Amino acid sequence: MSTTTSAPPLPALIGPFHGHMPGPRLAARVPEGWDERPFTRFTVTPVAPLIGAEIDGISLADPIDPELFDELNRALLEWKVLFFRGQDITVEQHRDFAAHWGALESHPFIKELVSQPDAVEVVRLEKNEELSGYENAWHSDVTWRVSPSLGSVLRAVEVPAVGGDTLWADMAAAYDNLTPDMQEFLDGKVAVHDWMPLFGRGMDDATKEALRADFPEVEHPIVRTHPETGRKTLYVNRAFTQRVVGMDPVEGEALLQFLYAQAAFPEYQCRLRWQPGDVAFWDNRSTQHYAASDYSPQRRVMERITVIGDRPY
Ligand SMILES: [Fe+2]
Repeated sequence: MSTTTSAPPLPALIGPFHGHMPGPRLAARVPEGWDERPFTRFTVTPVAPLIGAEIDGISLADPIDPELFDELNRALLEWKVLFFRGQDITVEQHRDFAAHWGALESHPFIKELVSQPDAVEVVRLEKNEELSGYENAWHSDVTWRVSPSLGSVLRAVEVPAVGGDTLWADMAAAYDNLTPDMQEFLDGKVAVHDWMPLFGRGMDDATKEALRADFPEVEHPIVRTHPETGRKTLYVNRAFTQRVVGMDPVEGEALLQFLYAQAAFPEYQCRLRWQPGDVAFWDNRSTQHYAASDYSPQRRVMERITVIGDRPY
């Protein structure tokens, strides 16, 4: 055992039912002491108690003034995922909208899916008979980077008649609902994240080695503090987290599996059934997402722009 806290040993901390017996599973949507004020520039319609709201009354094609930006950012922090239905926007307008939140990322491993060679920040995710959806593992975007994503803006271009929904999970609520003993156990623990097990599949060794120099393994705290809300958030995910630093490998893996399972509780989730023109904007610092891959051989075409965030602490 490498446990250094006074908390009980890991098996006792985990317990049955992934740590939560059936019964009411409630959590706070915003941090304690948060100044909740009405929104004046658009309407906000929740789609679930903790996470996800539809924003109506604005067009993403229009300019965003500072007051509107502040309200949209506040809505993002409070609801973690915003849905803008039926937006008729160009690639440039999509990019301009996202750029209000920071510098845009170009993805090193899915370059071939970029539709516009001059718009490297726009990742076109096109699924069809040959290539079906592979984003059906709970994750937060690009946590294998030193400074992972602040958020992503995803636009539906073409969607199946039914299927291809995206689900999001509130990882701050998930953290809040851990037992105090488990929270204490996690305090100060760090995990390794890496792109290679997922994106390295099918790559030859020379390519992997060359990319490794630019993208080494990175370490992030298992519980990060949201830089804008100050809220603690579970920050490990099934797609990119590899191991817990300083823990016995078997014990560390048991801990990770337990933590991954927290995203799967429906009470922490919301779900979007896409229509063409819908845009979802989510906070990658406080959420994970999962794209259901249940529509092959139908086509599903999405365009994603990711905003670079800061280094988790
Ligand atoms: Fe993603």
